[in-house]
Amino acid sequence: MAIKITRPQGTEDITPKQIYKWHTVEGIARETAENFGFHEIRIPTFESTDLFLRSVGETTDVVQKEMYTVKAKETEFTLRPEGTAGTIRSMIQNGMLNDALPQKVYYILSCFRHERPQAGRLREFHQFGVEMAGSQSPSSDAEIISLAKTILDRAGLQNIILHINSIGCPACRAKYHSALKAYFEPHKSELCDTCQTRLEKNPMRILDCKSPICAEIAKDAPIILDYLCDECKSHFEKLQEYLRALHITFSIDPKIVRGLDYYTKTVFEFVTTDIGAQGTVCGGGRYDGLIEQMGGKPTPALGFAMGLERLILTMENQKCNFKEPKNCDLYIAPMDESAVITAMQLGQKLRESGYQVEYDVMKRGLKAQMKYANKINASFVIVLGENELQSQKANLKNMQTGEQTEITLDETFEEKFDDIAVQYMFHDVMKDFEKECQ
Ligand code: HAM
Repeated sequence: MAIKITRPQGTEDITPKQIYKWHTVEGIARETAENFGFHEIRIPTFESTDLFLRSVGETTDVVQKEMYTVKAKETEFTLRPEGTAGTIRSMIQNGMLNDALPQKVYYILSCFRHERPQAGRLREFHQFGVEMAGSQSPSSDAEIISLAKTILDRAGLQNIILHINSIGCPACRAKYHSALKAYFEPHKSELCDTCQTRLEKNPMRILDCKSPICAEIAKDAPIILDYLCDECKSHFEKLQEYLRALHITFSIDPKIVRGLDYYTKTVFEFVTTDIGAQGTVCGGGRYDGLIEQMGGKPTPALGFAMGLERLILTMENQKCNFKEPKNCDLYIAPMDESAVITAMQLGQKLRESGYQVEYDVMKRGLKAQMKYANKINASFVIVLGENELQSQKANLKNMQTGEQTEITLDETFEEKFDDIAVQYMFHDVMKDFEKECQ
């Protein structure tokens, strides 16, 4: 017997039974981003490895430990571990930064990181993200935080805490790095191997190390907020003022440094305690140096990304509403070959009018067909046998009430079905409304 092939560790199938949850979340995110004037961008799944080395950063966990790099012929590529680098590459390559600024884009994409899988942490996961290029003003930081918050609110989520921090600009960062080096130097031999090299190249990365020993040593490390230059300090204060004006509650967390190297000034995370250890549902910040670093003209920029798996998990745990999938409006049960043709023709007409129609394509008997109609939750069923074809009349059965209405199988069929279906839908909407009012 052939051995069954299963999906790779850290990946998930999203079956038709689950997909409506994804459609709900993606719909909310898209609509909200459009409300804020962002437009969709689609970028390649793989990029040249260099792109991620130069943007995400050579001393990050993502680059050092988690990239899926493949060699095809003589060229090396990497499956995107995140969406920002590719989006900015695309903005530069397509001359989008020469257009009216700010450029505001959003994306929904899969990302690949070779991490240890656990609840809320996958090797292939999905992000909804936005990037805005061109604005230096803290009002744009407030704008994207407000966009993220609106999506979380519209999804019905509660108890998500917004943590913000500023990690300064290269000028204040230089002083901070010296302070960190001085702090970690005496502990050098206790740090993990990766952090020992980080101490020389990029000591701030030690603050983000997942090793418990490094995390324990980092507990009392100096904090960046004590090293901010005047410009960064006032940017951070202004952001807080805007957030208060928008009634967005936040807490300042000087420990947030983010796991990617491109950030400057504002960084933020939305965190929940409802899904276990991997509770960051959204992370982002400003990256004013990245575009220039990638060969574009100097342009400040910022953005965020939400993990869709984590978002859906939190919605499930908090019993939030998902938009239910549409069910079959009409199931037609043909009893013989000539009825199959009538079923096809009736189905074709109603589908043109936007109804979801199915008929049997398995040559099954009546009992099996009714079982299937129940399983797919069909609202109405018509059985077409010899009698019905001869008289050109059939009974349209309402599967919820059991009520039967005679309906003619001629050119008036579509209109009559429409009348009955609309009445039924109205009845249903009213029932829901009454329930809500109680
Ligand atoms: P990030 O924090 O690496 O930032 O990822 C953003 C979000 O993706 C996380 O908050 C989390 O919800 C989700 N995520 C990350 N890794 C995994 C994983 N292994 N499994 C499941 N979900 C995960 C970025 O990627 C930046 N590009 C965000 C950004 C956009 N900053 C500016 N613009």
